[in-house]
Amino acid sequence: MTRRFLVTGGAGFVGSHLVAALLQQGAAVVVFDNLSTGHRAAVLPGARLVTGALEDEAALDAVLAEGDWHGVFHFAALSLVGDSMRDPLGYLAANVGNGLRLIQGCVRHGVPRFVLSSTAALFGTPDRMPPDRMLIDEATAIAPGSPYGESKWMLERALAWAGQIHGLRSACLRYFNAAGADPAGRLGEDHSPETHLVPLAIDAMLGRRPELAVFGTDYDTPDGTCIRDYIHVADLATAHLAALARLDHESVTYNLGTATGHSVLEVIAAVARVSGRRVPHRLAPRRPGDPARLVASPARIIAETGWAPRHATLDTIVASALNWRSTHPQGYAA
Ligand code: UFG
Repeated sequence: MTRRFLVTGGAGFVGSHLVAALLQQGAAVVVFDNLSTGHRAAVLPGARLVTGALEDEAALDAVLAEGDWHGVFHFAALSLVGDSMRDPLGYLAANVGNGLRLIQGCVRHGVPRFVLSSTAALFGTPDRMPPDRMLIDEATAIAPGSPYGESKWMLERALAWAGQIHGLRSACLRYFNAAGADPAGRLGEDHSPETHLVPLAIDAMLGRRPELAVFGTDYDTPDGTCIRDYIHVADLATAHLAALARLDHESVTYNLGTATGHSVLEVIAAVARVSGRRVPHRLAPRRPGDPARLVASPARIIAETGWAPRHATLDTIVASALNWRSTHPQGYAA
């Protein structure tokens, strides 16, 4: 029987790649997205787009009432740490309010499985992390350093209660740094404004924007710049499928990364290496709120599901992102 899924935020960067993976499996997919940051063209043919806002309970209810859902994936959210520091209550109201409405709707309509896009931003700053715990696993202390991270933690807690009391099975997936693009070249990263390192470095290399600012060179890292765990968006998509399968047995929480960290200067070097061109950049002050190092231990999802990242090298990630940005100079507007 064809499995049916609702994907909120399925027109966004990570959501659209998950939709591609679901369609590949022969699933029926309904995308629910207000297109505030997502793109109509990011919804692949084969998926049905319902343009709606999670604030609109009646619209949400109408979709959920279609019934027979195998599961719901919840991507739709505000997701910029810096913005959340400027508007903490707005961020909490939007992300927690919308998430709770969706979770309540799922309980009301008997949806059995819920997959939450969570974040490494739950773990706050590394000052709180013992030095011997260089990889962040699921037992690492939760200490959100921003209202954005806090909003996701609140939804993780809400799902724990929805599971305990209503039997809703959930997977909380804490993404580290999503990057790259669909290996088939259909989908990519198109944020406006763009704030993420990989696309910004590529655009600087392509001469589409002024030189890249390297935010901070005095961190306690080997080259002084911040270290992050970049995970290919297509690998994130397969991790969602692996986590979904676990929900037949139990609720799960997984950190999704590659266990390998790369500094900002290493990312710049990778873009230069892959493209054969220099990346104009300048050294700049720290960006407030940036932890020095965030690297995941994905050991739990690997052990429990057999999932493994297939596009894990930085050069593979950069090459796919470069391919999409070169072939889509205007992003999805092209
Ligand atoms: N950076 C620069 N210059 C830029 C942009 C970024 O030096 O112009 C640096 C940042 O300081 C950071 C690294 O590149 O050290 C990565 O920055 P991103 O903005 O690409 O990503 P973040 O690590 O800040 O945040 C991302 C997601 C968050 C998520 C987090 C989890 O945007 O939603 O990963 O690790 F919470």
